[in-house]
Amino acid sequence: MRRAKITVVGGGNVGSSCAVWLAEKELGDIVVIDIPEMEDKTKGKMLDLAQCAAIDRFDCSIIGTSSYDAAAGSDVVIITAGLPRKPGMSRDDLVQTNVKIVRSVSEKIAKAAPDAVLIVVSNPLDAMVYTAWKTTGFPTHRVVGQAGCLDIARYRAFIAMEAGCSVEDITALLMGGHGDDMVPLPRYTSIAGIPVTQFIRPDRLSAIIERTKVGGGEIVKLMGTSAYYAPAAGSVQMAEAIVKDKKRILPCAAFCDKEYGVGGYFVGVPCVLGSKGVEKVIEVELDANERKMLDSSVSHVKELVALAQKFM
Ligand code: 2OP
Repeated sequence: MRRAKITVVGGGNVGSSCAVWLAEKELGDIVVIDIPEMEDKTKGKMLDLAQCAAIDRFDCSIIGTSSYDAAAGSDVVIITAGLPRKPGMSRDDLVQTNVKIVRSVSEKIAKAAPDAVLIVVSNPLDAMVYTAWKTTGFPTHRVVGQAGCLDIARYRAFIAMEAGCSVEDITALLMGGHGDDMVPLPRYTSIAGIPVTQFIRPDRLSAIIERTKVGGGEIVKLMGTSAYYAPAAGSVQMAEAIVKDKKRILPCAAFCDKEYGVGGYFVGVPCVLGSKGVEKVIEVELDANERKMLDSSVSHVKELVALAQKFM
């Protein structure tokens, strides 16, 4: 049986953490690509990771390189390249720099791995997915952004802490852009099938929702840079759904045209993820207030894409 192949572009904190979990889960052969100036460091990190194989018992090839030829035949490419946030910055402050980086790596990936499904992680996420799509010319179902898996993981973690229950039993939904106006949906949040409101008081639930929305910023303040473990775990969750054709329903930044009346942008919505990438966008029923919050988040995504297009 042919092993899947997964390329990660960017060997920094998010990219290396992706490689660790891809290996641990034995999802396929792994290539991590960084710029030539970082080649030795990337090679070293991946050699270090490859040496864990005997302990953690995974069989796969793990390569660090600066050559895009190494991405040939990849089933999935995870783009993590770009600057992370510093304290006081919003994700949107990164647009001018990161749009150039994402455009440049997307051009190379389009040539080296034309059949891959692209998972974009770079920020500001919703505009970077759009940039990768425009640059590669890939069909929309093969370009998807990682944000919802991370945002929902934060939301579920906070709910578990408050309710004193296992995070495993929490299912939740969150939509919109990957900004502070993302839309967690308590009406679609349950613990073992029981509405979350039976466990958590409305004021505490509102506090959790607000904490989730600024969850990335909370970590930037503490660490002086962006989060990386949970963003990487979210990306690997998506890669797993794709390489194993699991048809998981995960919240992802997917291309929505008629869906939710978005009109041709990538926004966070629940999708079916399988070997073809985004196999379906699921349209859930929203009440007037939820709809208003989603519309406002989508408007922000559109403004951000307009800004990104100036630098594309
Ligand atoms: C976050 O929310 C890095 O955007 C990422 O932490």
